Amino acid sequence: MTSRVNPSLSMRPMLPDDVPLLAEIFRASIEEICAEDYSDAQIEAWIESADDEAAFGKKLGEQLTLIATMDGAPVGFASLKGNENLDMLYVHPAAIGQGAASMLVDALERLAQSRGATKIKVDASDTAHDFFKKRGYAPQSRNTVTRGDEWLANTTMEKPLGDGKPGERETLQ
Ligand SMILES: CC(C)(COP(=O)(O)OP(=O)(O)OC[C@H]1O[C@@H](n2cnc3c(N)ncnc32)[C@H](O)[C@@H]1OP(=O)(O)O)[C@@H](O)C(=O)NCCC(=O)NCCS
Repeated sequence: MTSRVNPSLSMRPMLPDDVPLLAEIFRASIEEICAEDYSDAQIEAWIESADDEAAFGKKLGEQLTLIATMDGAPVGFASLKGNENLDMLYVHPAAIGQGAASMLVDALERLAQSRGATKIKVDASDTAHDFFKKRGYAPQSRNTVTRGDEWLANTTMEKPLGDGKPGERETLQ
């Protein structure tokens, strides 16, 4: 898979009205992209975590959530929890391989650094493991998390930011 720079790709902070569409992107991304790495029951349980859209929106609203757009339409999103935890990263299957995730993660890494973080962590799905590995994230531990009645495996991965010193402040949010 080779990503290309898409000139229509842009980025903005999440707005409350985005939540239903982000829940759709979340579901489509897991259902179509993660199906090779997780069982049908695991995929179903994972998707159901967005059924309560109010709770899903509240969680994203409490984090620093950025949206990738193509020609103005949302195609993916990513969120930073606290200073150093990359929590959510989902790109719509119709938009993968075009640099949306790279753009979002580049921005969150810079924002984490501007918040004083010297490293950034993610609990990477098995599907996204190699995406993060390619970006310099190193595996720290293997975990299992519950979604409904299912157990799903992921890997905590970590990447040092900059020279370990807090960076310039950014103005997003
Ligand atoms: C992982 C994911 C976010 C990548 O999104 P994307 O927009 O396609 O990523 P990009 O286009 O920015 O890809 C950047 C690079 O990573 C590579 N890459 C992307 N996904 C990859 C994967 N699953 N495995 C290995 N490499 C991957 C691309 O080939 C590209 O490499 P290149 O620059 O050398 O061409 C997307 O596949 C996704 O939404 N997956 C399902 C949801 C998920 O598991 N989220 C993670 C929760 S922690």
